[in-house]
Amino acid sequence: MARARVGLDIGSTAVRAAEVSTGESPAVIRAAQVALPPGVVENGEVRDPARVSEAIRELWQRGGFKSKQVWMGVGNQRVVVREVALPWVPEKELRQTIGIQVQEFIPMAADDAVLDYDVLGEFEQDGRRMVRLLLVAAQKAMVNLVVQAAIGAKLQPVGLDLVPFALVRAVGDAGAGMSLEDSGDEAIIDVGAHVTNIVVHAHGTTRFVRILPSGGRDITLALSHGLGIEDDIAERLKRGEEVEGAPPKEEVRRVAMQRAGSFVDEIRSSLEFYTAQAQGARIAKVLITGGGSKLEGFIDLLRERIPVTVDPGGLFEHLRSNLQLSPEALSEAEPVLVVASGLAIAGGNT
Ligand SMILES: Nc1ncnc2c1ncn2[C@@H]1O[C@H](COP(=O)(O)OP(=O)(O)OP(=O)(O)O)[C@@H](O)[C@H]1O
Ligand SMILES: [Mg+2]
Repeated sequence: MARARVGLDIGSTAVRAAEVSTGESPAVIRAAQVALPPGVVENGEVRDPARVSEAIRELWQRGGFKSKQVWMGVGNQRVVVREVALPWVPEKELRQTIGIQVQEFIPMAADDAVLDYDVLGEFEQDGRRMVRLLLVAAQKAMVNLVVQAAIGAKLQPVGLDLVPFALVRAVGDAGAGMSLEDSGDEAIIDVGAHVTNIVVHAHGTTRFVRILPSGGRDITLALSHGLGIEDDIAERLKRGEEVEGAPPKEEVRRVAMQRAGSFVDEIRSSLEFYTAQAQGARIAKVLITGGGSKLEGFIDLLRERIPVTVDPGGLFEHLRSNLQLSPEALSEAEPVLVVASGLAIAGGNT
């Protein structure tokens, strides 16, 4: 029997789930989303778990998901991911003492954090054996609210992973960084409404993560403030909808592109920070996902300001789609199903 896993993505504007079959040629077999009212999830953090549970229940009805087990993700300002170097100790001891050893590297009490790490490698420093780790610290209280939202919808969270890692699994090129002449890492950038997740990887191994507290909402706010209009009108204009009595299109575009420009500069500085601090690092390609990437002209702006290939992350180039959707509806859904699909793909922590 074909087996499948369901990934559940709680975003600031919607809850989404994707069921992905496992096996040789995985496919997205079910997917759905339910919009969230403002304030229920903010900055990628659950504020009102009961209302999120309600939306998830509706999501299960709408999507017809059979399983109650879900793989979930976190990606917000309450998570830090850092490369750290520690004196080498045996793996077992490292596990046991990690909290004490990494306290100086994280901006929260180790006791209040869920900690995890990947060993990146070993090296020697002044004759001492050292180990390099990719350390993940997520605030416990924030994680608990995510879990609570799922349990409140009668689901069983069986895995929790970082959104950036899910991005790599969903759209990352496993061969990136492999070939000598075209050597370089791949960056994947998920532009949400409130949060932008940036991850750099080399053939599937994460090298760098940066989570920015900005996204599509900032463009909407720039429009509403700049043009003196309501947020919901600004949102519709941003998406290119016709609104009666609205300011001229050129004006809307000018304000949107100006704000998008400084946002792109923020993204570029994060990528430059990575290449400056990691020896010999070079980013060869950038993939872009998330609802915020649908802004007209946004990818062109990235292409102008970031001197490497920038492409939309093609979820359905990696996974087959068994969704009953028209080609247009499928390409509309593609950028916002990446996180949920990546969470459903095996490889994450359990
Ligand atoms: N056609 C469009 N043109 C411009 N922006 C769009 C379009 N469609 C969606 N967006 C923007 O995409 C953003 C939502 O993206 P997404 O659904 O990926 O975020 P989220 O996962 O709900 O939130 P987050 O990841 O920040 O927690 C919103 O800011 C929305 O305005
Ligand atoms: Mg999101």
